[in-house]
Amino acid sequence: ALQPVILSGGSGTRLWPASRETYPKQLLPLTGDESLLQITALRLNGFGADIARPIVVTNEEYRFIIAEQMRQIGQHTDRIVLEPVGRNTAPAMQLAALVAAQDGADPVLLVMPADQIVTNVTAFQAALAEGLKQAEQGALVTFGIVPDRPETGYGYLRTGEVRAGAQTARKLSAFVEKPDAERAAAYVASGEYLWNAGIFMMKASVWMKALSSLRADIAQACSVAIEKAGRDADFVRVDKTAFSACPSDSIDYAVMEKLGEHPELGEAVVVPMDAGWSDVGAWDALWQVSDKDAGGNVTRGEVMLEDTESCLVFSHSRLVATVGVKDLVVVETPDAIMVADKGRAQDVKKIVNRIKAEG
Ligand code: GDD
Ligand code: MG
Repeated sequence: ALQPVILSGGSGTRLWPASRETYPKQLLPLTGDESLLQITALRLNGFGADIARPIVVTNEEYRFIIAEQMRQIGQHTDRIVLEPVGRNTAPAMQLAALVAAQDGADPVLLVMPADQIVTNVTAFQAALAEGLKQAEQGALVTFGIVPDRPETGYGYLRTGEVRAGAQTARKLSAFVEKPDAERAAAYVASGEYLWNAGIFMMKASVWMKALSSLRADIAQACSVAIEKAGRDADFVRVDKTAFSACPSDSIDYAVMEKLGEHPELGEAVVVPMDAGWSDVGAWDALWQVSDKDAGGNVTRGEVMLEDTESCLVFSHSRLVATVGVKDLVVVETPDAIMVADKGRAQDVKKIVNRIKAEG
């Protein structure tokens, strides 16, 4: 069986002021009627393989919205794993693996971030099918996107030779998480690297063995946190004391980067994926993937644009008008209005950090 795991714990600070700690971006309908979380779950419809109900790992604050959103799309799940605090993705994936393996099962986990857009679902599912064959044989599978710029916010996958008997799956010969700008540029120029899509596939047992040997401290803390977890309705409430003591680290740093030195943990594999993938990290990325009007503008709500070009203008509670502007992001919410140069969209998080610091 294939066990989807949706990671939905981040707060998406670069999409402020729409995305909030109390209502993060993955729960917002940013691209249409469905939220990014719902789109992520629906993307597996029609995949064919025997698919279990998803495990969603999230902060306990989002539990009701998540349960409701999963119900809305007909994917009610009683395995919403609630973290009392965020400890990044390695512990989140470990919690999911422990829950998935609880009845002695060893499903292939398909770990997906809840905040991505994929425009070609057919190509996406074809890549998953290719990855599944590898994962069933014990491989640790990543998915690779052809890079179009030296982005430093992603992981880079160095591709090796095609795997014996496989169609597109290749050996993953190196994994470099978030390289500096110089190295990222060199990787892109070399043509030998793909971006890490942040989607992973491997048997629960393969993941747990890898984490236990590379980060026994994380594995140990998660085991206690799940042993002592409470259960009610649709939720697995991870033990607060045990999980708070868990070190924080990502899947990428804790495990994926280290696989090259540890062949005994399993074959690392990359499946190239040309599926219109995009990480909706910031407003410029959302503008990029959204439908635009004749002037290249993306709008939502009550807006009036005059001589306006290549802007993203979102209104939530009142009329927003623009005149004679270009390449701006304007987002209106009841308690905050943000105007930014579209090229500086990454820096929105500086505002969020200041709000946190200055109160
Ligand atoms: N449950 C839970 N708990 N989810 C979390 C936590 C946590 O503590 N922290 C992050 N997540 C979720 C986020 O909501 C997101 O959906 C996903 O896990 C990935 O986390 P990010 O924080 O967005 O990671 P990243 O974007 O810096 O890097 C990862 O994704 C890139 C592609 O988008 C890496 O895998 C990179 O290598 C990759 O290129
Ligand atoms: Mg991300």
